[in-house]
Amino acid sequence: MLAMYSNNHNDENEPPRQAFFPRRYRFLIRIIFPLIAVYLLYLIVYRPENWIPNTSTEFPSPLPHGSDVNWLNRQQQVRKAFQHAWSAYERDAWGCDEYHPISQRGSNLTTQGIGFTIVDSLDTLFLMNLTDEFRRARDWVANELDFDIDGEVNLFETTIRVLGGLLSTYNLSGDMEFLSKAVDLADRLLGAFLSPTAIPYASVNLRRKSGIQAHFASGASSTSEVTTLQLEFKYLSYLTGDEKYWKKVEETIFKIDSLERVDGLVPIYIRHVSVSESLDNPNDGLFWGSRITLGARGDSYYEYLLKQYIQTSRTEPMYRRMYDQAMQGVKTRLVNYSLPSKLLFVGELLHPTSTSIIPKMDHLVCFLGGSLALGATEGRTIRSKEDYSALSKNSREDLRIGTELTKSCAQMYFTTATGLAPEIVYFNTDKTSMDDLNIKPMDSHSLLRPETVESLFILWRITRNVKYRHWGWKIFEAFEKYAKHEKGGYTSLDDVTTIPPGRRDKMETFWLAETLKYLYLLFDDTDVLPLDKYVFNTEAHPLPIFMPSEEVRGAGWSRS
Ligand SMILES: *[C@@H]1O[C@H](CO)[C@@H](O)[C@H](O)[C@H]1NC(C)=O
Ligand SMILES: *[C@@H]1O[C@H](CO)[C@@H](O)[C@H](O)[C@H]1NC(C)=O
Ligand SMILES: *[C@@H]1O[C@H](CO)[C@@H](O)[C@H](O)[C@H]1NC(C)=O
Ligand SMILES: *[C@@H]1O[C@H](CO)[C@@H](O)[C@H](O)[C@H]1NC(C)=O
Repeated sequence: MLAMYSNNHNDENEPPRQAFFPRRYRFLIRIIFPLIAVYLLYLIVYRPENWIPNTSTEFPSPLPHGSDVNWLNRQQQVRKAFQHAWSAYERDAWGCDEYHPISQRGSNLTTQGIGFTIVDSLDTLFLMNLTDEFRRARDWVANELDFDIDGEVNLFETTIRVLGGLLSTYNLSGDMEFLSKAVDLADRLLGAFLSPTAIPYASVNLRRKSGIQAHFASGASSTSEVTTLQLEFKYLSYLTGDEKYWKKVEETIFKIDSLERVDGLVPIYIRHVSVSESLDNPNDGLFWGSRITLGARGDSYYEYLLKQYIQTSRTEPMYRRMYDQAMQGVKTRLVNYSLPSKLLFVGELLHPTSTSIIPKMDHLVCFLGGSLALGATEGRTIRSKEDYSALSKNSREDLRIGTELTKSCAQMYFTTATGLAPEIVYFNTDKTSMDDLNIKPMDSHSLLRPETVESLFILWRITRNVKYRHWGWKIFEAFEKYAKHEKGGYTSLDDVTTIPPGRRDKMETFWLAETLKYLYLLFDDTDVLPLDKYVFNTEAHPLPIFMPSEEVRGAGWSRS
């Protein structure tokens, strides 16, 4: 550009001609235009949050490749962060379920540790090729891990973190040690299913193999908890050839399928009525309470409907039907836009038939952006306009809502003082206010949750739009700046809206199992764990997609 203009100097002595820009305005070209160009470049390269979202139904065309960015180097920085977290745990809390980085100690959920941190981290260690660390963790599982304890554990948390971690690590490493531990654990967890209904109890005593009702909500179980066990138990049936695990977890979904739902949406608690009570009134009273949310206690019900369909190679259409119906309900009843910037959000309903949406959104809801994209293509990458056009109208709509929701989730980070998202936000629907997002003091903490980077990873894989990588990097930098603890480990934060945000003395296991794993995969160039071969459980443990055999395939395949 400069060369072209400097050539014009040779024309000084030629007769004056009608210039497009009179001489006295040439400064426009020399100064203002380059400034504008620099500013545009700044917007594109450094301020990804300002990018216009793919709000139309257009093919989300990739931005020009960020060739100046060394993604491999960024991926190595995520690996370093993992080592910073892990080495502190190993030093201060080895064998314990949970780690407290400020007091530099560990604690257990029951009388002794059952591998919440170690087992939850195994597959990340494996993927990051931290071979020495992996070997030590593997030896702990083989020599120290013992599930025969007289203690009560939460069925859902233990399934997704420990059973899921053992199963995915078995798949990645092929080491039978993990499979035999998984079988032992699952046999104990099955005790929770000895309830009078198809709905398992919330907790289980591992030695006695007996279920225990929740200590709140009249002993009801969370809907999401009892419907987020299926991927793990079904994969175990597939591996062992024993269909008892599959049968148990499938019954719960069949039961829910038989209950009345409004547009596929479900209340967040589910009760254990006695057999006689349920015989009198077989189709009533199982759900408890009426709040509808895609956040806490609702979220992964919807996630696992889709993933069950994907896991068994799309042989069980009933799950796709239930999922599509629910997403239709989300679109018609829960989606709204904030003011003034029209950020899409998925709100809550006080009652399934309420007509006004509570504009509250948990960070947990941010899984849905990636999930909608995964459902739209069933894991395939959209590589061309033709791929995009081949999607059904409904899938294109899901993809649009998924990308818009993920943009809102990114904004939950980029609009706070620390660049980190709070636990819950309220979207503004009031014309007189200028802030799209409001954060209440009670909700302003951060546990370093994974859902947003999970969606960034899935959207990157599916759309190949590099902006998702840029957003992920910005989020990672904020974690590094505020959550990293100089003595080792990372901590949860008290208030993301102030600097410094204040620390909480805990490092959640999902920071290792999910947040850092998804960031590592987001910056990975080799497409390890392709989304049409693997399905991630809700704790980010990758389980392979398989073809159910004649002997072990549950009953889902035959239901309409
Ligand atoms: C927690 O359990 C592990 C494994 O049994 C044990 O090594 C550790 O000492 C326990 N820690 C505490 C604080 O009880
Ligand atoms: C993994 O690490 C080992 C040494 O710890 C090294 O020999 C090997 O090349 C690494 N593999 C990959 C894929 O980076
Ligand atoms: C893990 O899953 C992959 C993908 O389905 C499969 O090829 C591999 O054989 C599995 N590994 C084991 C140990 O089952
Ligand atoms: C959606 O938000 C608008 C303001 O942006 C508000 O006027 C409207 O009532 C909301 N819709 C529902 C169903 O809550």
